Amino acid sequence: MASYDIVLRLTVRDLRVEDLPTLGESPTKVVSMEGELARARRGEVDYLAVCTPSDRPVAYGAVDYTKPAGGATLYQLTVLEPLQSCGIGTILIHALEDRIRARGLRMAELGVDDASPRPQRLYERLGYAVSGTELGSWDVDAPDGSVTRYETTITLLRKAL
Ligand SMILES: CC(C)(COP(=O)(O)OP(=O)(O)OC[C@H]1O[C@@H](n2cnc3c(N)ncnc32)[C@H](O)[C@@H]1OP(=O)(O)O)[C@@H](O)C(=O)NCCC(=O)NCCS
Repeated sequence: MASYDIVLRLTVRDLRVEDLPTLGESPTKVVSMEGELARARRGEVDYLAVCTPSDRPVAYGAVDYTKPAGGATLYQLTVLEPLQSCGIGTILIHALEDRIRARGLRMAELGVDDASPRPQRLYERLGYAVSGTELGSWDVDAPDGSVTRYETTITLLRKAL
């Protein structure tokens, strides 16, 4: 097996509606992402993309300034699967934290689905600490094309910025 090292210059910019079809997300997820882009236009959230030199997004994530009081919530953190565990999620989180600081807020919160706990280790390494739990639910596309409601317990983590 041959292996090669390359240096890739990634940029972070606001996610755009024309990016959505390139991300390979389900129809229900795309509808929810369009809703978050509308909120971004109203200034309630920032929605960022990490892009390759050809300006193609390989990761995206958002920050909601409407909660919790005195801080903001990171959500929808996603790195395209073949590029996970290369450090791109860390770049994305730092960029979102910079946006929070730029709004004069000094606390970031995020949630981890207890059914998929692996990212928690990354968040704790980046300085987040468990602050509580809450119930979460959202729509998901079933393999037969129907939409079902997924319900779970979320572990909340916070970081002072
Ligand atoms: C969670 C997620 C956003 C993190 O993004 P990522 O790019 O994989 O994150 P990073 O690469 O910065 O760090 C994650 C892992 O890579 C390792 N890593 C970081 N930099 C690295 C590098 N330069 N080279 C190799 N590994 C690296 C970290 O140690 C970490 O390892 P761990 O998962 O075993 O603890 C991404 O994995 C993802 O999209 N997962 C699926 C969706 C999801 O679960 N979203 C989060 C919901 S809360």
